Amino acid sequence: MKDNLRSQGWFGKAGKDGFIYRAWMKNQGIPDYEFRGKPVIGICNTWSELTPCNAHFRELAESVKRGISEAGGFPVEFPVMSLGETLIKPTAMLYRNLASMDVEESIRANPIDGVVLLCGCDKTTPSLVMGACSVNIPTIVVSGGPMLTGKFQGRDIGTSDVWRFNDAVRSGEMLQEELTVAEACMCRSRGHCAVMGTASTMACMVESLGLSLPDNAAIPAADSRRKVIAQLSGSRIVEMVQQNIRLSDILTRKAFENAIRVNAAIGGSTNFIIHLLAIAGRIGVPLSLEDFDVLSANVPLLVNLQPSGNFFMEDLYYAGGLPAVMKELDSLLHGDCITVNGKTQRENYLKAACYNRDVISTINAPISALSGVAVLRGNLCENGAVIKPSAASLKLMTHTGKAVVFEDIEDYKNRIDDPDLEVDENSILVLKNVGPIGYPGMPEVGNMAIPKKLLAKGVHDMVRISDGRMSGTGFGTVVLHASPEAALGGNFAVVKDGDIISLDLEKRSLTLMVSDEELTYRKKQWKPRHKQYDRGYVYLYQQQVEQAHVGADMKYLRGGSGSEVTRDSH
Ligand code: FES
Repeated sequence: MKDNLRSQGWFGKAGKDGFIYRAWMKNQGIPDYEFRGKPVIGICNTWSELTPCNAHFRELAESVKRGISEAGGFPVEFPVMSLGETLIKPTAMLYRNLASMDVEESIRANPIDGVVLLCGCDKTTPSLVMGACSVNIPTIVVSGGPMLTGKFQGRDIGTSDVWRFNDAVRSGEMLQEELTVAEACMCRSRGHCAVMGTASTMACMVESLGLSLPDNAAIPAADSRRKVIAQLSGSRIVEMVQQNIRLSDILTRKAFENAIRVNAAIGGSTNFIIHLLAIAGRIGVPLSLEDFDVLSANVPLLVNLQPSGNFFMEDLYYAGGLPAVMKELDSLLHGDCITVNGKTQRENYLKAACYNRDVISTINAPISALSGVAVLRGNLCENGAVIKPSAASLKLMTHTGKAVVFEDIEDYKNRIDDPDLEVDENSILVLKNVGPIGYPGMPEVGNMAIPKKLLAKGVHDMVRISDGRMSGTGFGTVVLHASPEAALGGNFAVVKDGDIISLDLEKRSLTLMVSDEELTYRKKQWKPRHKQYDRGYVYLYQQQVEQAHVGADMKYLRGGSGSEVTRDSH
């Protein structure tokens, strides 16, 4: 075992190199025996006070360390770029690929035999998994856990209420002072967003892929069992190194199919698509946008969580957690997929029980037949667009209306509440230049607010189309990820005010009722209006980022470079 350890290529060396590798570590008070053939386990930590959802991770890392030490490993914690969804401008998504590079190179460059990824807020999960995939050493994920359910004026609230509160303040139904009080009521404990937003979706994604221990997704951050699972994960990663179980052993095509079906059943975020495609690209598993539609087609919505339903992540855990959901889905899953604990998915979930059928329904009496994501095709989105049916309004799923076009986010902000804006409840709002290159970074602005004058008339949903994303906590009849994005000059770039657009969810179509001749003419006149950056990371990003329908990773980051480093540093 000792001779096979990657870390011994550093700490096991004789002579000057070995001296240097060990000596400077010893300044931390580490005894010599730690370097003599123990599996070295990196704890990749996204702790940051600027990432509030992950602000408790140093404490969580201590539990992981305890597990590693008790199993005979040597823990080393290291920081990587942390992406806080709420604070980072212009959008955390702009930096997902950058953070993944940090993770990849930090793992590869250091004497690490296995790694524990501490993930929480939205982008911290995909960026860490993507980076780790490109190195492919034994890896386990520990999520930080959701916040406790918010409590406000006698009712439960979560992040999805931000959009409702915003509309209520704009329409005069809620006072600004009440909104301020709601801030602390919603975020009353450590952890990430408590609804089935992107962070919870990502935690469910890693569990359904087999990358975490069972129950990892739903245990609240404030629950003492979160520390227990962190400690157990620390102890398990040492065994994974001994058994040489790598990411590529777990992340098979079947594992991805499981994740897609589970995501449909939980009503997961549309961001799941973009992140799973990027992860598949790193580990080399073929996956296409169509797979999400086809694989989730016969999966009903089983989990009654906001934004598609009523409850919160805390309720999901008390109802039985993700294992209870997966047990219900057994007939649709590949139960034989191996997971990080060495057992199959089926071995893990078959012993699960459901304690609340209001939260986790049965497959025979689901919350809704509408689930997953629908992939739309048509001349408005030549490479596809997506919509989340469970978060959309039934009456708008087949809808034809006149486009009200905003050329970019500033245009939208300037005009959306203009009393003279020519818009009615049948209009279709179109927002351009919020794609990966155009914004840049593809922000979560796709669920545009309803114009004030329509809110006053009681309109709470409209068809909205953009080349951007939507927060996993958002809802509405919102078409997202239109590809190619407006910044590339396709048909989406030349939609004009008054054009007729037709959405037909059942037929999976999104059609711009404008002739090919007219579109060709418009495209000849078209000029890009997005800002082109000429230095730094954003320059590189705009040059290299791929479109949403393939995961918006950088072209040059697809695949991996493995874990071997042939040259020493001295
Ligand atoms: Fe971090 Fe929602 S803001 S998970």
